[in-house]
Amino acid sequence: MGRVLIGVTGGIAAYKVCDLIRDLRRDGFEVRVIMTPFAERFVGRITFETLTGNRVHSDWEEDPLAHIDLARWAEVFLVAPCTVNTLSKIANGIGDNLLTTTVLAYEGPLLVAPAANTVMYKNPAVQENLKKLRERGVLVIDPEWGVLACEEEGEGKLASKERIVHWINYAISPKRFRGKRVLITCGATREYIDPVRFISNEASGELGFSLARVLSWEGAEVKVVAGFTTAEEPPEVEILRVRTSEEMREVVLKVFSWADVVIMNAAVSDFRPKETKSSKIKKDRDLNLHLERTEDILKDLGARKGSRILIGFALETENLLDNAKKKLKEKNLDMIVANPVDVIGSGHHRGYLVTKEGYEEFSFETKIESARFIADRIARLISS
Ligand code: CTP
Repeated sequence: MGRVLIGVTGGIAAYKVCDLIRDLRRDGFEVRVIMTPFAERFVGRITFETLTGNRVHSDWEEDPLAHIDLARWAEVFLVAPCTVNTLSKIANGIGDNLLTTTVLAYEGPLLVAPAANTVMYKNPAVQENLKKLRERGVLVIDPEWGVLACEEEGEGKLASKERIVHWINYAISPKRFRGKRVLITCGATREYIDPVRFISNEASGELGFSLARVLSWEGAEVKVVAGFTTAEEPPEVEILRVRTSEEMREVVLKVFSWADVVIMNAAVSDFRPKETKSSKIKKDRDLNLHLERTEDILKDLGARKGSRILIGFALETENLLDNAKKKLKEKNLDMIVANPVDVIGSGHHRGYLVTKEGYEEFSFETKIESARFIADRIARLISS
């Protein structure tokens, strides 16, 4: 996946880096840690050595060229938590310990995730240094608002590990979607029978959210229109929530004119009750539901597509490939991802990717791998 060097400085949020390393290792990253001497007073080096499977560096004790070797090894260099002291040293080119010296010897993408007391963070000298870093192309992962270790409430909490993982992926990904605006729909709609009952399906939203992740890592500006989902939301992406197919239609039509690429991954209900009762239906007799067709949003978009790239999904129990080819044409799509029904709500993802040129069969263990594959094929469509 990638080689991440993490510089840990002496702040209480140092303990949060332990969990971050576990997530990065789970995602296939190789991780090495440099600690400032003061950081070792917060977390023992043995903790980071166990979590990374690598020796922790804090000085030149064994290797006088450690700063050069580490700088060459790293594909991404993250300083987290970054105290205002280290932040200011980096901004001013000071190299007075192994961590700051390695920063000076490093040429790749540098990420700093500051964590501090609000007053210290807002200090004009610190803000000036932050500005300097940003202007120099350093990616500053802004701290969050919350209750801080000093028991004050304010801005200064270390960014969540989900946000940090996002920016690491962003830093190492190609930027094939820079300048592209992508609208993704995902999740399940609910069609209400009465205020508490509805018709819906098992879509989790995981593939749509994975596509949002991968495309924003690759530089796209992404907006997600999501129905109901159980998957974890992607960080740093705008998510517009809707409940029914009608609400989804309204929001999608509004955002459509903004988008260059539209990926209609939502499991939109094909039917809704003809009438929604305003009060809860009593169980004093049998009930017949009269269902009517919902509007086909994707078909509507196909009719007004212009130069946009439009991608649909198909979920079928039989004749998967033939039906997908038919839908590609009927709905005026550039690509359709056809899945057998067993993929819904499952981690695994398989099916066919169909374009006007032909089709490819695919099968992946995770939705994120699948999203990378689909994103790659969209990038090819854009450049063709
Ligand atoms: N879709 C939509 N609006 C609907 C229903 C579906 O925009 N009211 C979109 C889905 O987001 C998906 C695609 O249409 O991208 C395929 O949906 P699917 O249910 O597989 O096919 P249908 O077009 O509904 O056709 P059929 O029910 O005949 O299989």
